Amino acid sequence: MSKKFRAAVLFGLLLLTAGCSRQKSKPMLEYMPNMAHSPAVKAQERPMFLPATGTVPRDWEAYPYGPGDTLKAAAELVNPLPPTLEVLEAGRKSFNTFCIVCHGPKGDGRGYIIPKFPQPPSLLTDRVRNWPDGRIFHNISRGQQTMPDYAFQLDPAQRWAVVNYVRVLQRAARPTAADLALMKRLGIDFSEDEPDTSTPKLWPER
Ligand code: HEC
Repeated sequence: MSKKFRAAVLFGLLLLTAGCSRQKSKPMLEYMPNMAHSPAVKAQERPMFLPATGTVPRDWEAYPYGPGDTLKAAAELVNPLPPTLEVLEAGRKSFNTFCIVCHGPKGDGRGYIIPKFPQPPSLLTDRVRNWPDGRIFHNISRGQQTMPDYAFQLDPAQRWAVVNYVRVLQRAARPTAADLALMKRLGIDFSEDEPDTSTPKLWPER
């Protein structure tokens, strides 16, 4: 074997092994390629079609009240949705998707994320019961302190549906005499899972 040939073989081996080690870090088979090559535009990358400056979705309307306009929003906004079964079902769906983690299934502030996230105040207090619908709507649209806003996740109709559902939770927490009579007549007993209407310790009645 000539020296030249030996060197060439060695070089070839080197190349191969280098190839091998590269193979290791980049497998031939891609598991879930959609995640590796997502269609999302990466930072510094130009998307194929940039929407014209100032473009908004077709039926998008700017929410006119700023974070500091709470009382104005509360006084002016009128709930356009009657509490039909359909609306309440939609409200429950959105509440159980976006609010439940913090506020809990009953709205008492005992969500699954608590106490990793600071416990929110109960939505069953007289404070929130006495708020006009518009104030709860504003709260969802603009957030409040550590609570983020849900203006992008929920369109206005979905937010009003959530407001109506919060009213359901409040009614369920303190049923009227008529509600109790009806439940008795229908043989319904919710006493096992009656929500705790007391304000959590962290949140004295304000
Ligand atoms: C990440 C946790 C979190 C989520 C999710 C969340 N909230 Fe809140 N919410 C809070 C906290 C914390 C407060 C108290 C904020 C403050 O005043 O410091 C609050 C306050 C409120 C209040 C005012 C209560 C009061 O007495 O001041 C309402 C009403 C409310 N949330 C409704 C909702 C609704 C409806 C949703 C779903 C669309 C929702 N929240 C989602 C954490 C959350």
